[in-house]
Amino acid sequence: MKARLDAIVRPEQAEYLERLLPANDGLLAEMEAYAEEHRVPIADREVARFIEITARATGARRVLEIGMAIGYTVVHLLQGMGDGGEVVTIEPSEEMIARGEGYLGRAGLRDRVRIERGFALEVLPRLAGETFDAIFLDALKEEYVQYLELSLPLLREGGLVIVDNLLWGGQVAGEISSPEQTASTQALREFNQVFIRHPQLLSVILPVGDGLGYAVKTG
Ligand SMILES: C[S@@+](CC[C@H](N)C(=O)[O-])C[C@H]1O[C@@H](n2cnc3c(N)ncnc32)[C@H](O)[C@@H]1O
Repeated sequence: MKARLDAIVRPEQAEYLERLLPANDGLLAEMEAYAEEHRVPIADREVARFIEITARATGARRVLEIGMAIGYTVVHLLQGMGDGGEVVTIEPSEEMIARGEGYLGRAGLRDRVRIERGFALEVLPRLAGETFDAIFLDALKEEYVQYLELSLPLLREGGLVIVDNLLWGGQVAGEISSPEQTASTQALREFNQVFIRHPQLLSVILPVGDGLGYAVKTG
């Protein structure tokens, strides 16, 4: 049981954990620098590492990602999955895809990634009949509920659902600080209710990164 509700996630704890995490080097550091310079919203380092650990620990062979951007989390997933692992990722932006393909090629991972070009709500129905060990949701917050319903049939029983940004910079539980994010914040509030009570999932939302949903498919 927690000593106090705010005993762990306080600024000094968060800063300590941030400092403790070793900095990346090589290609991952280059991707982080590119993302920062060009304002590409890639996952926090601790989220990426958490995902890589999950992929490795669960022995995942096929993972579906919704929202690739420049491929930062794809690289982590494939590093965790090792030889033979495959990621299918959905991304509509040709600019992101071109940049991501460059990084994945340089990492020697391009042939283990299938990039599905297009919008997730159009691509997901085309994946009917495929099976995945894990699904990572990381695209439009307003569409998360639909992503979940369309992708759950593709997930094997015992497979994992991982969802980024469920606390959305603190706005989901607190005040909306960016008015232009009102719709996405309200959508995430609704999503979190669906996610945590979903009859086919055993779910938790962790204060990792920007809030990470983590669930196993139970039926
Ligand atoms: C948060 S970023 C993904 C970051 C990536 N998973 C990472 O951490 O390395 C979200 C991505 O979703 C893409 N996106 C936007 N609308 C989308 C849609 N309707 N379907 C799928 N992807 C979409 C954006 O182009 C953007 O690259």
